[in-house]
Amino acid sequence: MEDSFLFNMKTILVTGGAGFIGSNFINYILKNRDDYFIINLDKLTYAGNLENLKESETNKNYIFVKGDITNNELVNFLFGKYKIKYVINFAAESHVDRSILGAEVFYRTNVIGTNVLLEAARRFNIEKFLQISTDEVYGSLGPTGLFTETTPLSPNSPYSSSKAAADMMAMAYHHTYGLPVVITRCSNNYGPYQFPEKLIPLMIINALNNKKLPIYGDGMNVRDWIYVIDHNKAVELVFEKGKVGEVYNVGASNEMPNLQIVKLILKHLNKNEDLIEFVKDRPGHDRRYAIDSSKIQNQLGWKPEFTFESAIEHTINWYLENKSWWERILTGDYLKYYSEQYSNR
Ligand code: NAD
Ligand code: TYD
Repeated sequence: MEDSFLFNMKTILVTGGAGFIGSNFINYILKNRDDYFIINLDKLTYAGNLENLKESETNKNYIFVKGDITNNELVNFLFGKYKIKYVINFAAESHVDRSILGAEVFYRTNVIGTNVLLEAARRFNIEKFLQISTDEVYGSLGPTGLFTETTPLSPNSPYSSSKAAADMMAMAYHHTYGLPVVITRCSNNYGPYQFPEKLIPLMIINALNNKKLPIYGDGMNVRDWIYVIDHNKAVELVFEKGKVGEVYNVGASNEMPNLQIVKLILKHLNKNEDLIEFVKDRPGHDRRYAIDSSKIQNQLGWKPEFTFESAIEHTINWYLENKSWWERILTGDYLKYYSEQYSNR
């Protein structure tokens, strides 16, 4: 690759780009911009799936590297080789239930991995480090009120505590070393390519297979849902215009109890509510999340473009039309894609 080619581009290390939000981000960005050169560093854990990136894999502004963000040597090599100027850190262990079953890998990837990236970013003097965080770092709300950027961090699960630790570390690097860090904290995403362990895809797929839909507790836990493209447009905007040292909450003001979402999915698929099964609650289950996103709206001009009604319908239809994508996940076949695709390269 010519140095002059990279010189004219924004060379961005995107981590975790084979996951749900990261792959939607890369596909969206490569369709809409020609000034970004993306190096996608992903370990391809169970949640990473290169099939999500089929439409991008031959793009000249895109390179995939299979690797772990905790691998100091590899990360430093990539910074040097590609003259990386920017980092967008999506890579994480992301599922709360898995963090309850085994927390260690969450701290390794989400905390140590972020530290490796921050250290390399410091060494190579990069221009911006965007840490993709979550509203879950704020803990749980009562029946009223919203999370703002000044709400104290009060994470309750191993997952959210590892994300909060990463946020605090990233800000400490800003304050101590002047590293140009910015953080986004988004609410629950939904959309195409979401791994079927999370509420919405799990319920769609179980319903299609006439399997029981397991609802934790009384089903009245509230999440604030946002379509993944709205999130990614906010990421793009914060990447371009976000003020260094700042946090931006991202959410679409769409609070819903889990039971309501599950009923809506069943209705859309013409399935009977008898499929619903109330099961034992998740330990430490946060009751309610709700985001105040007025800062990013007022300061950067972002606003959500998709209504829940249209985007959830689009999402359900996507799972209906892409049965082979999730069937290959359920059988584990998608894991073979990498070796087949890359064995001759
Ligand atoms: P995901 O689990 O679908 O994808 C995570 C990706 O990171 C996978 O491709 C995986 O292979 C990769 N990865 C994991 N460990 C790695 C490591 N050590 N090195 C390199 N790559 C590694 O997650 P997602 O839902 O796309 O979430 C992406 C980011 O957004 C996460 O940081 C998450 O905390 C944050 N977030 C998610 C949501 C949501 O609703 N899903 C909401 C707010 C914030
Ligand atoms: P999830 O998609 O795991 O996201 P998070 O826990 O990060 O918000 O869960 C969303 C909500 O759905 C949460 O309140 C837990 C609940 N839930 C169920 O009731 N049953 C399930 O099988 C799953 C996966 C989640």
